[in-house]
Amino acid sequence: MKYKLIIALFFCASSSLFAQNIYKIDASKPGITVSPRLYGIFFEEINHAGEGGLYAEMVENRDFEITTIPEGADMGGNLVRTKDKWQERKVFGNELHGWTFLSEGGAEGDIRLQNEKPLNSKNPHSMRLIVTKPGNRAGVWNKGFWGMNLQMGDTYNVSFYARTSGNKKMDVTVSLESPNGKHIYASKKVSGVGGEWQKYECSFMSEQTDNMGRLSVTINQADTLWLDVVSMFPEKTYNHQKNGLRVDIMEKLADLKPAFIRFPGGAIVGGMNLDNRIQWKNSIGDIAQRKGTMNLWGYYTTNGLGYHEYLQMCEDLGADALWVCNPGFSDNYRKAEYCKPDEVQLYVQEALDALEYALGPVTSEWGAKRAANGHSEPFPLKYIEIGNEASTGVYVTNYKQFYDAIHPKYPQVKIICNYKSIKDGVVEIKDDHKYGTPEEFIRDFNLYDKADRKGPEIYVGEYGCTHNVGQGNLTGALAEAVYLMGLEKNSDIVTMSSYAPLFFHVNDNAWPVNMIGFDNQSVFGRTSYWVNYMLAQNRPDVMLNVQAADSSKTLFCTAGFDRINKELILKVVNTSKVAQQAQFSILGVKFKKSPATVIQLTHKDPKAENSLYNQQVVVPQTSTETFVNNTVNKDFPANSLSIIRVKTINGIK
Ligand code: AHR
Repeated sequence: MKYKLIIALFFCASSSLFAQNIYKIDASKPGITVSPRLYGIFFEEINHAGEGGLYAEMVENRDFEITTIPEGADMGGNLVRTKDKWQERKVFGNELHGWTFLSEGGAEGDIRLQNEKPLNSKNPHSMRLIVTKPGNRAGVWNKGFWGMNLQMGDTYNVSFYARTSGNKKMDVTVSLESPNGKHIYASKKVSGVGGEWQKYECSFMSEQTDNMGRLSVTINQADTLWLDVVSMFPEKTYNHQKNGLRVDIMEKLADLKPAFIRFPGGAIVGGMNLDNRIQWKNSIGDIAQRKGTMNLWGYYTTNGLGYHEYLQMCEDLGADALWVCNPGFSDNYRKAEYCKPDEVQLYVQEALDALEYALGPVTSEWGAKRAANGHSEPFPLKYIEIGNEASTGVYVTNYKQFYDAIHPKYPQVKIICNYKSIKDGVVEIKDDHKYGTPEEFIRDFNLYDKADRKGPEIYVGEYGCTHNVGQGNLTGALAEAVYLMGLEKNSDIVTMSSYAPLFFHVNDNAWPVNMIGFDNQSVFGRTSYWVNYMLAQNRPDVMLNVQAADSSKTLFCTAGFDRINKELILKVVNTSKVAQQAQFSILGVKFKKSPATVIQLTHKDPKAENSLYNQQVVVPQTSTETFVNNTVNKDFPANSLSIIRVKTINGIK
């Protein structure tokens, strides 16, 4: 036979059972090129993903604007209602949420929200502290987002705006302390505070580790002090960025090697009504000049992790930026509010200005603002998506206006559409979303095999196994692995994907299943994280044809090749509750006599999950196995994803 040189692997010496799953893999005729953009990430401010999460700000309700709700809406009980009667939960308490009057040794006084003499129009409220009796210590403390994680030896940078009545000067003491204030871990006196609004700054090092720590601001006399935008950041942020991001969470993202980052969502792009849409211009520059609002996931967002920080994050992770703009109406699933037809151009301009901010020369209006914010070079923005999950005819009309204005000006930016085709319009990339049960994900292994290759590229912008999978168990993740392998083998047309939502804070979870969880001190990956990690780290350059002579309905296999490392990459998911054996005959490559690497995600219990307190229940394990002859027989454990990398001598053509 021509292929007498066929080499195969023998991974499991003990496997002498008849192989029920028989595959032939032909490496002599490589198939499609795998899209290098296939694995990206999706960030949305949901579940305190940014606020109290990725965004390293430690003070909650720093600007005293936590009760800012969408224009025309009202609050009642635990709900906020828009004028179109859309109801959303709210997870914040009163307007001084996060802040408590500090009284020690008989001190008396109180704190109040005030709107007289505001800091600026974006921050109309401030907090007034009145001390009538100083006692031993009087002032105010902030609990942070479910406690402040203070680390011994780490430096913290505090800034705040303050004013006094009648130009009076006073000393203000800023401290890091234990939850009951009995132990002070760091303290700084800021002298001469007073008069009109002014910014004050200080830094200190914590002498203790306490992950339920707090920040206090105290005065030692009976007096009145107004405070606003009280902020504290750890000195250590990712890449040492100012107004930066948490190091541990960013490292978790860096491990995913994301090709792109989608931002700001999601439904949040539309908002509960048009006033509540993401308005990127409110999210750049000095944090004291940013306007925050309650978002449609029920909590307040300062916009501290704004458009600029997002672009910086892309640059820091070596990922392309994919920014989603509002299409002229609010979220479709929340009783959309539409702008008037003659106002659509205002929204188009909002998008054009965002593109200019990211890409324009420093001589342009918005490019100059980017430079003023510390970044003269353009950012790596490569995609813009017009709207999210739109489902009405208005979208079609609006999309064309966006496309016609954006494409001629920024031909290098790819435009993503919510629809597959637009009458009399151009669709470059179409965004597909998929949530569902494991069965639905497994069923779609071959979904894109027959996708129209002449149609637009497909971006699976949101996907996640959300039903019947606990809070993210192995069954769901394996179903996603099958689905992603289906995308990989079709990535000539399905060129991009991103799991959603990316994050959840363990104390605020508004979505059934998410990829990465955290509290204020640690971060962990759900099983979906590890599937994404394994697939993104083992993305082949080309796919190889796999022919199944015989195979069960519960074993899924794809094969590809990594040209740089000259490695065959085999991916196998066993979704059944019993181990299965497979036999592979691999044509057209010569294997090195070095051990193959096997990376496996498995657990005897398909319902196994990772959680904050049990982060390592289901994590990939790497081992090596030696092959000895030309046919590979391998056992695949029940409930498993296996990735096998085998070194070859000459690579493939
Ligand atoms: O990922 C969570 C939400 O799911 C997104 O905001 C929305 O686009 C989708 O419906």
